[in-house]
Amino acid sequence: MFTAADFIPKTYSSTVENGNFEWSAPSNIALVKYWGKKDNQIPANPSVSFTLNNCKTVTKLAFEKRDTSTPLSVTNGFSFDLLFEGKPKEDFKPKIRKFLERIEVYLPFLKDYHFTIDTHNTFPHSSGIASSASGMAALAMNFMSLEKLLNPEITDEYFYQKASFLARLGSGSACRSVKGNVVVWGEQKNLKGSTDLFGVEFPYTIHENFENYQDTILLVDKGEKQVSSTVGHDLMHNHPYAERRFAQAHENLDQLIAIFENGNVTEFIKVVESEALTLHAMMMTSMPYYILMKPNTLQIINAIWKFRNETHVPVCFTLDAGANVHVLYPENVKEKVLQFIKNELVGFCQNGQYICDEIGTGAVAL
Ligand code: DP6
Repeated sequence: MFTAADFIPKTYSSTVENGNFEWSAPSNIALVKYWGKKDNQIPANPSVSFTLNNCKTVTKLAFEKRDTSTPLSVTNGFSFDLLFEGKPKEDFKPKIRKFLERIEVYLPFLKDYHFTIDTHNTFPHSSGIASSASGMAALAMNFMSLEKLLNPEITDEYFYQKASFLARLGSGSACRSVKGNVVVWGEQKNLKGSTDLFGVEFPYTIHENFENYQDTILLVDKGEKQVSSTVGHDLMHNHPYAERRFAQAHENLDQLIAIFENGNVTEFIKVVESEALTLHAMMMTSMPYYILMKPNTLQIINAIWKFRNETHVPVCFTLDAGANVHVLYPENVKEKVLQFIKNELVGFCQNGQYICDEIGTGAVAL
């Protein structure tokens, strides 16, 4: 059994003065949702997601050994510059600083270097698509590349597990953005190797019906999130339905294990849509309560149900903690669904905007 202490390095065998790395990491879309957490970013229930392919964060990390004559107390510990789309972005720094504080015990070299973190997303910034998963994963990959220079002996397995472990400490769902194509995070008794500490690739057979599964993201509301995920997760403490909901996530994962094996897309749709609506139901029944869907979210859901009933095309939806709709469908109905989206759903999107994505393989060194 892994514990967090397994990721605390004992000694480093090499030294390095300066250099740089660049990694991209994708976003992911949860099928069984992570909603509710314990201390230290431990999830209240297991979750599973499709790793995406096109919605990514690309992060370059330049590092340089610091002048040790400057006392660390003067520089407040960490030293880094943050560039977003090539320009300094002060408002992102507190989040990064908090991340560095959380991971320092696992990467004891962090205060020895000055870092320049240069990052951008391949999707529009104010699209309502969360960049914390891809962003934290991309940064974690870069830090692991540096750790590998300091300790060349670490294995690939350790590299990816620890990258996911670190990403989790930045943002829970980020731990599912390191690997592809289907990633499980959180201990579940029938999923071998599953752990609360990091995301693992789905360990069993996945039917060809789910190969290249498509996700078209309909941008219904591109505004700032009404409820931050931190506040949202907190709402599950003392929530009247929390325990039942956490148990249901385990059951839904059991169902997905069977579905991924037998390729039953009809059953897949039931689990995935129910999960999305349950996530929103949790927010509607918390105190304080929120409605995160917009009228157009419901219009889209109803249009998808009508289209599916009439055509038997196996298209379904899922939602994040917001109003945007992820439209999920097998690759072999891509043309029909894209035509349906253009004909009937684009009108419900803000400025007619949507993003075509599909299952992907995870973080990549550039
Ligand atoms: C609704 O990973 O953003 O997207 O750990 O507080 O950073 P923090 O939360 P975050 O929560 C994501 C919640 C979700 C469901 C999911 O992705 O599983």
